[in-house]
This record gives sequence, structure tokens and C-alpha cells, in this order.
Amino acid sequence: MSALFQNYARRPFAIVEGKGTEVFDTTGKRYLDFTSGIAVCSLGHANPAIVEAIQQQSEKLWHISNLFESPGQEKLAASLVKDLHLSYAFFCNSGAEANEAAIKLARKHTGKHKIIVFEQSFHGRTFGAMSATGQDKVRNGFGPLVSEFITLPFNDVEALKAAADSETAAIMLEMIQGEGGVNSVSDEFAQAIHDIQQSTDILVIADEVQTGIGRTGTRFAFEQTVIKPNIVSMAKGLGGGFPIGGILGTEELFNTFNAGTHGTTFGGNPLAVSVAQTVIDHIFNDEFLQSVKQKSSYFVNKLKEAFPNYTVQGKGLMLGLGLGGEDVAPYVAALDKAGLLTVAAGPKVIRLLPPLTVSEQEIDEAVDILKGVLQTDKITTL
Ligand SMILES: Cc1ncc(COP(=O)(O)O)c(C=O)c1O
Repeated sequence: MSALFQNYARRPFAIVEGKGTEVFDTTGKRYLDFTSGIAVCSLGHANPAIVEAIQQQSEKLWHISNLFESPGQEKLAASLVKDLHLSYAFFCNSGAEANEAAIKLARKHTGKHKIIVFEQSFHGRTFGAMSATGQDKVRNGFGPLVSEFITLPFNDVEALKAAADSETAAIMLEMIQGEGGVNSVSDEFAQAIHDIQQSTDILVIADEVQTGIGRTGTRFAFEQTVIKPNIVSMAKGLGGGFPIGGILGTEELFNTFNAGTHGTTFGGNPLAVSVAQTVIDHIFNDEFLQSVKQKSSYFVNKLKEAFPNYTVQGKGLMLGLGLGGEDVAPYVAALDKAGLLTVAAGPKVIRLLPPLTVSEQEIDEAVDILKGVLQTDKITTL
């Protein structure tokens, strides 16, 4: 009998050790981890630089609260906004909390409440973030949601133009919907959002919790679009496995979050910040980001070559393999058995999220395992 709430469909094995892309279960069985803890351990497991940051900082100071000045947060904030159109950061502990901060900031700044969100989006499990999430399975059963989230079809320009009115505080979206199926924002839709931003005072919130921190081959995925969000939320990859989240905001928002308006006890504690600084120092670097793009093209080409009848979706090392409308759950389980950890994105897409430090040999090995498990004759051609 487990003493845990059964709110996760856990796989029937426990991972107890990891190094780089490899992880090991209690029996010593080796797997290639193409989940990275759901887009979190971007520098691989037990990365020596992160281990060192934790060791060093843990001997100095773990936590002190936001009652005092924080040189670590100042440095991390400056590293995150450098060369971007964004100016300020606030740190918290998770993606849902980052989105709560983003929603509160947008509502307070504009004095309006309506926020446009999209079907199949995922923004987290707290009340605000859950209300913003465009999936009934996440929202059902919890009673009245936070009001005035308007859910539209993703990438539907006409629906967006019709809904974006003078009552609207913000448009909130993922540049690539992760949990919803690895669906990228279309160029046309990005242009429509950009145009609305230019001609109205509607803010844009980019939820980069999954796409951010180099996952798609740029620091943030919005950099590959024409959208310049007013608020960016982040978490997952920011701490490389240590919990930390945050938002970035533009200059005009500075006075909205003044003393006492928003906060958290743990957010941006010295330990989390020192780990995140190590992660950012590694990833926000042209050479590193270039290597992510190269590995991505290598992986995409291998996947297309191996599976000409499937769709390969996504960008960078946030990729999805669509099996022509077939449910992927049995394949994900079979891949586990064969030694490749993957995660579904919605019911129909296998998500591939290797550490950004993955090697070409590991990509080759993963594609071989995928080939062995996803026998072409079982899959409906698209
Ligand atoms: C795009 C996006 N936003 C928000 C969240 C929620 O993050 P967390 O689980 O850290 O609260 C997730 C988690 O999967 C996500 O993918």
C-alpha cells in the first residue's frame, strides 16, 4: 500500500542514478533519458558544473528570504535580460508560479482582466494557471475557475482578431505547445499577435516554461518569431533540475510590481540562483546554442529518414513524433522497456526532450531504439 496520493500515472520502475543522458533504475538497467525530467535537466544529469555550484553555495548560504538585497538575483536577472528587449526579472519556484506572477502583472498593469488563451495550452496547476490552460482534463472538477480567460483555437488568426478588444489585458501563449502536442505557433499567427501588439495596448505573455533556456536552439523560442512579449515566464530548464522559476518583463512594467504587490518566501534563494547562474552561463552562449541547433538538425534528419510516414514536429531539442493519429501510450511503455525514456505530448505524439548536451552517438542509439519499437507496419500512414 502506498502512502502517496495516486495523482500520477507512474511508470513501474524507479530511476535512482544518472550521468549526462544516461540514467539507471534500481535494478541497474540503463536508459537513455530523452525526457530530461520533462525539459528540465538540460545540461544532463549530475553535470559537474552544477554539482560544484551546489556544493560551493551550500557551504555558504542556502536561504535568507527576500527581506534583504540579493546580489545573486541581480546578477542572474542581468544575465537573463542581456541583449533582449526585456528589462526586469522576478524569481519564484515553478512554472505555475511564474505564470501566476505573469497573469497578476498583466492584470494589474492594464487594469483589465480578460486574457486570451488557447486550446491545448498548458500553463500549470494552480488556480490562475489552470484557468489559463486550454484543456478540460486539467480544469474539470475544481469548481469555479478564475474568470475572464477566453480560450480560442490555436493559430486561428480570425478568431484572435475578433476576440482581441479594448477589454483585453493580454494574450498568453506557448511558442510551441508542449503538453498539448508539440504544436508550433504559425508565422501568420505570430504576425497577427505582433500586429495587435503594435496597434493596441494588449500585452503578450510568452509562457516559455518548457521552450525557454535554450531548449529550442535560441535563448527563448520567441526569438525565432516576430513576437516581442511584454512578459516571459520560465522555469524547468532554468535550474537544470533545481527548482526555480521566474518572469522577465519589459521596462514599462517596472512600476507595476512595487514593494508588497507580489512575492514568495523561497523564490530566488541563493542556492537556486547559484545553480541557475551556472546553467545560464553555459547555455546563453552562441557556441552552445549553435550546437543545440546542429544536434537538432541531425536528430530531425535521422527521424525523417527512419520514419518517412510520421510527422516530426517542434524545434531545437523539443521534438515530437506524430504517429499518424495513433495513441502513443503503448509505444512509450515499449520504449521504456527497450531503454529509451520518452514522454507523450497529448495522446498522439511522442515527445523527445534529450538533454541539450546529448551526443550524436546517443541520438543514433535513440533512433535505433525507436526504429526497433515503432515498426512501420503497425502505424497508419499520415
Ligand atoms: C508551458 C508550461 N507552462 C507551465 C508549466 C507548469 O510548470 P510547473 O509544473 O513547474 O508548475 C508547464 C509544465 O509542464 C509547461 O509545460
